[in-house]
Amino acid sequence: MSSLQESKKNQIGLLTPNQLIRKAQEKGLAFSHFSLGEFLGMVEENAKPYRELMAFYKCASMEIETKFRVLDEQLSLEKEHNPIETIKTRMKSPESIARKMNRKKIPLNLRSLEENLFDVAGVRVICAFPEDIYFLEDCLLKQDDIRLVERKDYIENPKPSGYRSLHLIVEVPIFLKNEKRLMKVEVQLRTIAMDFWASLEHKLRYKKDIDTRLLGELSDELVQCSLESARLDMKMQEIRQRIEESNNRRA
Ligand code: GTP
Ligand code: MG
Repeated sequence: MSSLQESKKNQIGLLTPNQLIRKAQEKGLAFSHFSLGEFLGMVEENAKPYRELMAFYKCASMEIETKFRVLDEQLSLEKEHNPIETIKTRMKSPESIARKMNRKKIPLNLRSLEENLFDVAGVRVICAFPEDIYFLEDCLLKQDDIRLVERKDYIENPKPSGYRSLHLIVEVPIFLKNEKRLMKVEVQLRTIAMDFWASLEHKLRYKKDIDTRLLGELSDELVQCSLESARLDMKMQEIRQRIEESNNRRA
């Protein structure tokens, strides 16, 4: 392939595995160990296709957000209770994409990014009660344009850190000018208590200047806090059930 053809190919989008290996060899690097600079170089070289791919992820997260908003609207009429407190969407920054591709030794090109990273687009849904989470999960997965790719239930099985949430990777179609494209979105469903815990723990974890021994102690305490917040979640759910039962008896 001539160098003109090669540079054209890069502009359209992807480096072939051979090109990647050659590029890595030239730099004396295994291609899975690239620097942030190299990643940003790849983004710049593929500026248009990269921006386009990110726009597709954005559209996919909008589709998922709308699905939850529609459910919330309908359920608020039926059950006199809005299961959703908040919906947040976020796109992974180029820097975190680079860090994760490097960590997972994913080849430096857009196709492998799309094939291996499932959390470029994220939608976080915050509910009042744990049972709302599973109810919303069912409602989402029943929709015939949604395909479940992966499910991690950190409520049933919390992480060693104490982290609790339900994580779903789903595939959703987006409809473009001339094509339909299937995009993956990470959906995190949690209660207010789970979100409160995760936000504080996240802040603490990134405080780099904590002494190692203190960090160990705090980690144990955070696990305790997580257990307490799980207990609180169940208690509040029980209170809601009792109110509902009493209302039903009176009706
Ligand atoms: P990542 O590389 O972090 O995406 O790992 P993964 O692909 O195995 O995903 P996982 O389902 O374990 O968690 C991904 C996301 O969940 C993170 O980006 C956080 O938003 C959240 N998360 C996971 N573990 C923790 C934790 O211990 N504390 C907090 N605060 N958040 C967590
Ligand atoms: Mg993830």
